[in-house]
Amino acid sequence: MKTLFEPFKIKMVEPIRQTTEAERSGILKQAHYNPFLIHADDILIDFLTDSGTGAMSDRQWAAIMQGDESYAGSRSFYRFEETVRNITGFKNIIPTHQGRAAERILFSISVKEGNCIPNNTHFDTTRANVEFNRAEAVDLVIPEGRIPTLEHPFKGNMDLEKLEAFLETNKGNIPLGMITVTNNSGGGQPVSMENIRETSRLLHKHGIPFIIDACRFAENAYFIKLREPGYENKTVLEIAQEMFSYADGCTMSAKKDAMVNIGGFLALNDDEWAMHARNLLILTEGFPSYGGLAGRDLEALAVGLEEVLNEDYLRYRLRTAEYMGERLTSAGIDIIRPTGGHAVYIDASTFYPHIPSHQFPGQVLCGELYKKGGIRGVEIGSVMFGKRNPDTGEETPAPMELVRLAFPRRVYTQSHFDFAIEAIIETFGQRENARGLEFVWQPPFLRHFTAKFRPVSS
Ligand code: F0G
Repeated sequence: MKTLFEPFKIKMVEPIRQTTEAERSGILKQAHYNPFLIHADDILIDFLTDSGTGAMSDRQWAAIMQGDESYAGSRSFYRFEETVRNITGFKNIIPTHQGRAAERILFSISVKEGNCIPNNTHFDTTRANVEFNRAEAVDLVIPEGRIPTLEHPFKGNMDLEKLEAFLETNKGNIPLGMITVTNNSGGGQPVSMENIRETSRLLHKHGIPFIIDACRFAENAYFIKLREPGYENKTVLEIAQEMFSYADGCTMSAKKDAMVNIGGFLALNDDEWAMHARNLLILTEGFPSYGGLAGRDLEALAVGLEEVLNEDYLRYRLRTAEYMGERLTSAGIDIIRPTGGHAVYIDASTFYPHIPSHQFPGQVLCGELYKKGGIRGVEIGSVMFGKRNPDTGEETPAPMELVRLAFPRRVYTQSHFDFAIEAIIETFGQRENARGLEFVWQPPFLRHFTAKFRPVSS
């Protein structure tokens, strides 16, 4: 059979309120052309993020009823700890309310002013947390990873030569090295096992701890199974276990591959770092056996971590992105190829060649997709990663102008995707009418969340 169907039945539904294109045009203007400022009730298909937006399973909801809400030593914590340890093998498992809390704690205990941290590509919160500690976040993804239409099986790989040179030049100044699986900011692209192993070897040669940003570890593991020789007969769990075996710890946003709506953790082998991390945790997140979460959240997280390793699920998950990618590509729309695990990334710079980067083609495309189809995506380009010189107001553009359509786990069916594809292709047909945007207001960091825009006057 060629048709692959969603490997689940729907037991509970949530209505979608229909809107017209004219209504949406007004809503977009009111939201200052920033999709983050649109009420979710005014969205038809929400591809803003795959983070915390997934549908939990009946097993997860059942586990929620078994949550132990004891302040200290909760049974749910031990269940969570055992599941995480079985997959990652790490010694100290510290729950946090989400991924960035794990990042904040990790960098607070390890990073000093003037340090630098290598990563394939830092996600925006990771970069912001590094920079908040007055250190430098350096992206060393392979050159292929920066060319959207170039096909490569592991575009998330670290550039090992560059890493080696970087480690030499910055000796004594690197408290840890990271790799992000999958490489979200570079297109949800996987990292190969060989690359993880070599990154680990290089860092350890210099005595530098290796931390994995593990948000989408299961998608990465399944890509390894499909694409890396020698792994075709291993289970996804075995592959994930091997990935983590090369590292000294991980940060995790459980809102992604643990299929929960809130949660995360920091895992560390080093007892001293773990001690400092737990002290900070108590200060802002909570006692080490709950870390800002309820016992029931830890239960759902543990079940989610088991479910995400199911290969029927992962096959459907990766195929969803691939299907949308094939349809858009055959309509002449440039996307990051091959498609990654959790999203399709449209190249807005070739979608709108007449809109220069300082007029934010990605942000424009987000607005147009919302007007046309009520679709919400996110700009990953010069709004998110560009820099404004505070003295001159001059904008330095980001290396790529992308729009990410990220897919909530187990939420939308193939018809939702077909509708979205139709809307994107229609928007492409009308691309010449689109106009650039300019900032009306922007905050000092993570500006994409709250910035306000207006169309440039022609
Ligand atoms: N690292 C990566 C690679 C991420 O994609 C995210 C979140 C985080 C860390 C932070 O985790 O949100 O739980 O604090 N990414 C979301 C996204 C927000 O839309 O890609 P968090």
